[in-house]
Parts: sequence; C-alpha cells; structure tokens
Amino acid sequence: MLKKFVLGFTVAVVLVVAGNLFAQEKAGQPKAALGQGMNVMGERPRGPRPGQDPPPTQQRFDNWLNELRKAHQENDSEKIGQLLKDMDRNRQRLQRGMGRPDRGMRPPQGQPMRGATGTSSIESSPMPKTEAEKKILSVLEDIHQNQRRGMMNVPPEDGRLLRLLSETIGAKHVVEIGTSNGYSGIWFCLALRTTGGELTTYEIDARRASLARQNLKRAGVDKIVTLVEGDAHKTVTKLKEPIDILFLDADKEGYIDYLNKLLPLVRPGGLVVAHNMTPRQADPRFVKAITTNPDLETIFLHMQASGVSVSLKKR
Ligand SMILES: C[S@@+](CC[C@H](N)C(=O)[O-])C[C@H]1O[C@@H](n2cnc3c(N)ncnc32)[C@H](O)[C@@H]1O
Repeated sequence: MLKKFVLGFTVAVVLVVAGNLFAQEKAGQPKAALGQGMNVMGERPRGPRPGQDPPPTQQRFDNWLNELRKAHQENDSEKIGQLLKDMDRNRQRLQRGMGRPDRGMRPPQGQPMRGATGTSSIESSPMPKTEAEKKILSVLEDIHQNQRRGMMNVPPEDGRLLRLLSETIGAKHVVEIGTSNGYSGIWFCLALRTTGGELTTYEIDARRASLARQNLKRAGVDKIVTLVEGDAHKTVTKLKEPIDILFLDADKEGYIDYLNKLLPLVRPGGLVVAHNMTPRQADPRFVKAITTNPDLETIFLHMQASGVSVSLKKR
C-alpha cells in the first residue's frame, strides 16, 4: 500500500516537473539548447534513418511519458527510478543550455554566471566601483527584470560588451539605431559619462521612445543623450558629426542602408557594431559589406547567443 502510494506520488511529481520543462521549452526558453541541437529530453537527436523522419519533440516526450505510465501500472519501481534518473539528467543538460543571462538567470553581483552566452562559466555580474555606477546598474537590472517583454533589448552580456568597447576606445559620440526603451543606450552611457561622450539614438516607435526617456532620466544619463524620434532611414541623413561607434539594432534589412549612409561619418579607428548577427538573422548583403570591405576588420562574437559583429574602420 505504502509502496503504491510512494510510486503514485513520485509519478505525479515527475509529470509536473516534466510538464514544466516541456512548457518552458514551448515558451522558447531553452532555444539555446535546442539551437545547439537538443530536444526536450536534452538529447542530441540522432540522424534520421533512411526513409524515416526523426520523431518530433512532442513525440519523444510522449514516448517517455508512456513508458512512465506503463512502469507505474506495472508497479515497476526499478523502471520508474531509471526514468526519473533519465529525466533528471536531461533536465540538467537542458538547464546548462538554458543558462542564458538574458533569460533572467544571472547570479548575484560577483557570483559566477553559468553558461553566459555559451562562452564561459566563469563570468560574473558587474561590480560597481562608485555609487553612480551602482545606480545605473540598478536601473539596468530593473529594466532587465521588469520591462524586457516586447522591448527586444540586448542581453546583459551584450550591454557589457557595448560599455566595454565604448570606454576602451574613449568614445565621444555613439550613434545607436534602435533605442527601444533605452536599455542598450544606458549601457553605452555607463561608458560615455566617463569618456565625456554623448549618445545619439534613433527610435521610430513613439511609445518606446517615451519609455526610453523615462529610463534615461531615472538612470541620470538623459543629459548626454539625444533621442531622435522617427524613421532613422530618413532622420540619420541630418547627422554631420564624426561617429566613434555606430550601433545597429533596428530593422535588420535596413542595416545595409544605415551602413551606406553612416560609414563615411565613422572615424578611422571607430567601430560599427551590429546586433542579431547570427547566420539565421543577419542580412547577407550587410554581412558581405562588412566582411569584404578592405577598410574594415570584422569579427563576430556571442554567436551561440544573440550574435554581434564588431567592425573596426581601419586607420
Ligand atoms: C531590437 S530593438 C532595439 C533594442 C535596443 N537597442 C536595446 O537593446 O535596448 C529595435 C528597435 O528599433 C526600432 N526601429 C525599427 N525600425 C526603425 C527605423 N526605421 N527607425 C528607427 N527605429 C526603428 C524598433 O521600433 C525597436 O524599438
């Protein structure tokens, strides 16, 4: 009787956990894992046999569930134990693949980040040096935790990269296409307040632009930002000042037009940084333009996650 109860309880718990895993995957959370070739069971699918399609994700989950039900009916505690172990192992694999910090899985400050951007497991969250930096980082964290739905913000590790690049080259003028709610812009401002630089940022959507103004203000960086509302394809033509960093994070098919219009303004030694540059997302015309121009040296970063290209305009 007790044994039956324990078995029944175990099966119920497993079903809930498995259901959650399945729901998370359906919600797109473990895309990183899936992108690396894993299915809901955390397994790398074997190649299809000739004439046979690999079972879809749902099918594999159902198979596992049926096995569990069968083992339960047969009171086969050994089999249930085995299935439990399988699921636990797969859950761990899945979580390793899901450990993207842009999914709100970052550790406390100074603690190691697990699997950030698929690059390393030894990264840590930012450690503020001053009160001002602490304040800006706390606004960034708040936006990341509470506003990112529908805002298409860069993940924190990309934000840190933008800050690092800007501070390293002592950027005085950053131009950003695609402000959204100001998240990446505030990362730039973390650097610009120390380099004495300014940000010009472009946004077509009035609601996002308004939210960005509020966020920039509460981060205390609004004075070093010019936000231009409207279609950037038109409004950027008014720019005349040299650019230290051009950051492209708006309509992907528009990158080539922004590049053609603004590369002449990027100073020698300046950078063109573009977001969402995974092979799946990037516009081939833009990729060609930044990889075949002898004036540019281009590298690709964070390709397991969002994909960022960094192009140096040679001196
Ligand atoms: C990926 S989001 C930008 C995210 C932002 N860089 C961040 O990380 O916080 C892209 C933004 O570009 C804006 N956008 C799209 N097309 C545009 C255009 N032609 N001109 C200006 N903004 C545009 C969208 O409204 C959207 O807010």
